[in-house]
Amino acid sequence: MNPELMTRYPAIADLAARARTRIPFFAWEYLDSGTGLDQGAQRNRDAMANVMLTPQFMKGFIKPDLSTELFGQRYNLPFGVAPVGLTGLMWPGAEKILARTAAKYRIPYGLSTVATETPETIGPIAEGMGWFQLYPPKDPGIRRDILSRAKESGFTTLMVTADTPANSRRERQRRAEVSVPPSQTFRTYFRAAIRPHWSIATLSHGMPRFRTMEKYANSTDIAQIGLYMTENMGSLDWDYLEQVRAEWDGALMLKGIMHPDDARQAVKAGVDGVHVSNHGARQFDGGPAAIEALPAIVQAVGGDSRIVFDSGVRGGLDIIRALALGADFVLLGRAFMYAVAALAERGGDHAVDLLVADMESNMVNLGCRNLAELRERLS
Ligand code: FNR
Repeated sequence: MNPELMTRYPAIADLAARARTRIPFFAWEYLDSGTGLDQGAQRNRDAMANVMLTPQFMKGFIKPDLSTELFGQRYNLPFGVAPVGLTGLMWPGAEKILARTAAKYRIPYGLSTVATETPETIGPIAEGMGWFQLYPPKDPGIRRDILSRAKESGFTTLMVTADTPANSRRERQRRAEVSVPPSQTFRTYFRAAIRPHWSIATLSHGMPRFRTMEKYANSTDIAQIGLYMTENMGSLDWDYLEQVRAEWDGALMLKGIMHPDDARQAVKAGVDGVHVSNHGARQFDGGPAAIEALPAIVQAVGGDSRIVFDSGVRGGLDIIRALALGADFVLLGRAFMYAVAALAERGGDHAVDLLVADMESNMVNLGCRNLAELRERLS
């Protein structure tokens, strides 16, 4: 724990504020935006704030135990890093920074199919803490190749993302001219030039690349690969999921589930975990908050499957809220990226430190010794 960072940036909101002044406007908008009018993203936060827990006292000294087990693996903490694509646009080298944090704290790191580093590079850095996220290639041969690369690189858990049947409009990103490669306009150059930390880091790392996909698109040109993916990545259905189940012998989760019927079907298809998420409201602006969808899914499949939650988590208290509502594990997407964009190499560790401090403080104030007791404090 770094006391100076804890004083200057005690909350994820402080890291977000700093990130905003360190990275160019287009990178910030890519990171922070939802879609449509951004009402879904706001709803994720508002609904989270409405989950209330009632403390119980007179329990003597409490040192909360935050460790947990998931898919046969012990984790020191009940949270990890959600998969985030085009990571290097927000901070060059972000995947390596966060994979190192994951290895150090023994928490999962989710690597996206469309991250800017490969499983071969990140797997060894994550030291067994890697989870791999799959966007579905139409070609089963390519799918099998990606899965075997992830497996051989040490990724233990596969997250298949269901909630992205097509690109979303992301109006904020359009207005900010987010594109791959970054558009070569005066405005874009100007926006980069006034963010010298990011610009220098980007010059030394080179432009972000979709490295995992280069092999299949036969190109290192990010625009070419973007086109390749639009044409060659499919939409999921249950048959596809069953094929993935047959090909992946590690833990399997279906990510982006909001409806109890989809959760039941996923369990029938043989998943080990249902990942309740609305993609941080980046795909669809008109749905309920993810935290509102969680209890019905826990009720539908909680006995038959592990439940992982993300979307709208911005602090230790939010992690506690999701666990109290029945999640077994929680991921954070934007929060970790704000931290890395704000503090570069120190960002991942500091985010974990502050989330742990926040969880511990809130658990003591709730009178909870361990994560299981959180469910007894729901108001
Ligand atoms: C994402 N997310 C995401 N999910 C996924 O399955 N594959 C991906 O490539 C990405 N890419 C991505 C980029 C960025 C910039 C963000 C913010 C998010 C969704 C992510 O895994 C997670 O579901 C959300 O980030 C959770 O919401 P919060 O924690 O950001 O509120």
